Amino acid sequence: MAQMQWWCWKRLLCAILLLSLLLWCLLLLAGDRQEKWSAAGRFLPALRGQLVAQPRIGVVRGVDFASLFAGPHAAPRCAHGQVLLILVTSAPVNVEARHVIRRTWAAQEGRPTNRWQTVFLVGQAAEAEVAQDVQRERQEFGDILVGNYKDTYRNLTLKVMHGLKWASEQCQPCYILKTDDDCFVNTDRLPAFLAELNTVRTGLYVGSLFPREKRQVIREPSSKWYVSRQDYRPDEYPPYASGIGYILSLDAAEKILEAACCVRPIPVEDAYMGILAEEAGIRAKASARFAKHNARWRICNYRYLMVIHHLSPREQEAAWRSTLQARSACHDSLEVTRWK
Ligand SMILES: *[C@@H]1O[C@H](CO)[C@@H](O)[C@H](O)[C@H]1NC(C)=O
Repeated sequence: MAQMQWWCWKRLLCAILLLSLLLWCLLLLAGDRQEKWSAAGRFLPALRGQLVAQPRIGVVRGVDFASLFAGPHAAPRCAHGQVLLILVTSAPVNVEARHVIRRTWAAQEGRPTNRWQTVFLVGQAAEAEVAQDVQRERQEFGDILVGNYKDTYRNLTLKVMHGLKWASEQCQPCYILKTDDDCFVNTDRLPAFLAELNTVRTGLYVGSLFPREKRQVIREPSSKWYVSRQDYRPDEYPPYASGIGYILSLDAAEKILEAACCVRPIPVEDAYMGILAEEAGIRAKASARFAKHNARWRICNYRYLMVIHHLSPREQEAAWRSTLQARSACHDSLEVTRWK
């Protein structure tokens, strides 16, 4: 009988031991989990930041290209594989600037065709009347790419992204020049220079670069160039070419567009291009061929300069006359074949 009791006790003890082992294991597991949760708690601010930055399904973090293309406006025609496509940012009301460009450096009459083309980038005008005028002008000249974004200064980045995307998908020129409607483009030299003399055929991103002290991000909310820390964290932009004019080879443009899917756009168009170029591993190249307008340019300077900034419509006409004069007047001067 005593022996039987002892056997019972042994079983009970065993059971208790097993139970406590089980309980201990459970507690241990629970503790582990708790620790993980508190760790998550500690990192929650960072995690939360990531969650905010991450796109929801179907929402684009970078440039939303599809939204820029929506709308009924027919795009200009472009021949495939031209040497150069010139994209000119222009406000809806700048009719005169566009007309002067059509009459001067964008005119194709009497020149080798199908090698280069000029297209104006225009957004949605706030006033219905202006928007109608743009539609009429687009139908008449066939050289305006109307995008589905409000045409404001702070939307310039979207304008350029829309133009680049269209150019690289629909036209695929060897090179794309982005410029403004108050700039002169030396179409007498540039297409030939690109086709015959330029040696940097891939990865090209060239223009007038800003010195380091002019690459500070402007945090003053009242400024035209204000960019918040949420939109761009560093205090300095990477090297970038001024928006007055820069040239991209097609492969560079394609890589830059790829990067744009995932980099939040900022309203400073040319700085954004620099950010995307850096992201795509493309180095900005400096060239003195992109310059500010200067009344003292001599005729033969027009053999070298490719983009001149800040011209009135009258100055556009004078610059174009000088370019044509330079054809014969500077025939003997040595051709500069580099970008510098
Ligand atoms: C840019 O364009 C979009 C689309 O039209 C518009 O919703 C937005 O308000 C514009 N942004 C600015 C700053 O003008």
